[in-house]
Amino acid sequence: MSVPKKIYAKTFGCQMNVYDTARMTELLAPMGFVETQSMEEADVVLLNTCHIRDKAVEKVYSDLGRIRDVKAERRAAGKDTIITVAGCVAQAEGAEIARREPSVNLVVGPQSYHRLGDLIARTTGETPPIVETEFPELDKFASLPKRAPARAPSAFLTVQEGCDRFCTFCVVPYTRGAEYSRSIADVESEARRLVDHGVREITLLGQNVNAYHGQGPDGRPWSLARLIGQLARIGGLERLRYTTSHPRDMADDLIDAHRDLPKLMPYLHLPVQAGSDRILKAMNRKHTGAEYLALVDRIRAVRPDIALSTDVIVGFPGETDAEFEDTLSMMERVRFAQAYSFKYSPRPGTPAAGLEQLPEEVKVARLSQLQSVITRHQTAFNSAQVGMIMPVLFDRRGRRPGQLIGRSPYLQSVHAQLDSSWLGKILEVEIASAGPNSLAGVIPEASAA
Ligand code: 5AD
Ligand code: SF4
Repeated sequence: MSVPKKIYAKTFGCQMNVYDTARMTELLAPMGFVETQSMEEADVVLLNTCHIRDKAVEKVYSDLGRIRDVKAERRAAGKDTIITVAGCVAQAEGAEIARREPSVNLVVGPQSYHRLGDLIARTTGETPPIVETEFPELDKFASLPKRAPARAPSAFLTVQEGCDRFCTFCVVPYTRGAEYSRSIADVESEARRLVDHGVREITLLGQNVNAYHGQGPDGRPWSLARLIGQLARIGGLERLRYTTSHPRDMADDLIDAHRDLPKLMPYLHLPVQAGSDRILKAMNRKHTGAEYLALVDRIRAVRPDIALSTDVIVGFPGETDAEFEDTLSMMERVRFAQAYSFKYSPRPGTPAAGLEQLPEEVKVARLSQLQSVITRHQTAFNSAQVGMIMPVLFDRRGRRPGQLIGRSPYLQSVHAQLDSSWLGKILEVEIASAGPNSLAGVIPEASAA
């Protein structure tokens, strides 16, 4: 068998999967693997999958069908292809994936991927599929190699995994398991390494990141706010963010950090999911609409300009028209700077999946009504920035020649005509115009000089 050397990796779903894919490709680099953008030339195809909604799962299976054909063509040319399914579909469906798609060689859950190198080394085109979906005792992070040089000025860093909240719609507590926080020292050393490699902005990730309670240098659990305070001391690290937070875990010290730590960006993703108290209870969210609004008031009191973002589900089982109206009025009360909206999708094994489902037409109609409200609020938030001057971290090239794209403190994309020497740098930009999803900026004469 020829030695596999190229890996094609595709990520589905959340930012934690983006982080995991980066760690997996870094892990394989010492074995001689380089990444390729072309599936046809890949010796290993890696799909890092998402199980959060049915659509995400179907996308994986349709991709696997296409990959099977590529594998057959390569086989005809005498080349092996190792097909690896990682992530939450791997965890949830396990051996079922290899049964449904026999061309799959490896199925690896999110807690076992530090073993990917060994597993690939053991696999040939002929071996039966290997399924690794244990939650091993061993700390995955401790077994991963140190971070490789970063390719962008902004990086993700997973600090917490799993969730103990058990919202009745959500599959995460089953696919990612119980909550686990990495230690302060472990996170800090990874952050320092990223900064040494040129990273300027770190987004701390966790399924329920504000429940973070990693072991501090004093041996006691430290809160997310203390972790952020510790990381803010790293010279050269300019910006910190964190996502995703549960309203019930929004501790006072974290709210205060938004006032006290200039490096902590004025942006907070705080899923509300619904506006009706009855639906929130059925979702097991453990807060009411009024409690959510009171929390928003407290956050805005310490940081009035903060951009709030959220997740909303429409068509949860039993949701009436009036209850959906409660969601719309929640949106009007908060006026989110950004929001992600989803039709409820029953997930096997979760409590809400067994309840009577609403008709698809109802979900579609509610989603579209909700999305027009969201777009109106996003546009209003963005338009309010026109004329302001704000620091933008330019982190990627734009589609047009001579254009760079960066992020405002509020996480909006900002386009500007700038040469590529500004990549990775923070520059004061004047916001010239705004759309629902991005801003256009110009560089005031003085700052580009
Ligand atoms: N159906 C629809 N949306 C869901 N989410 C989680 N589970 C489901 C589901 N079963 C949404 C929630 C969550 C976001 C990541 O995905 O809004 O915050
Ligand atoms: Fe899922 Fe978030 Fe609820 Fe945890 S808090 S169960 S990850 S929606």
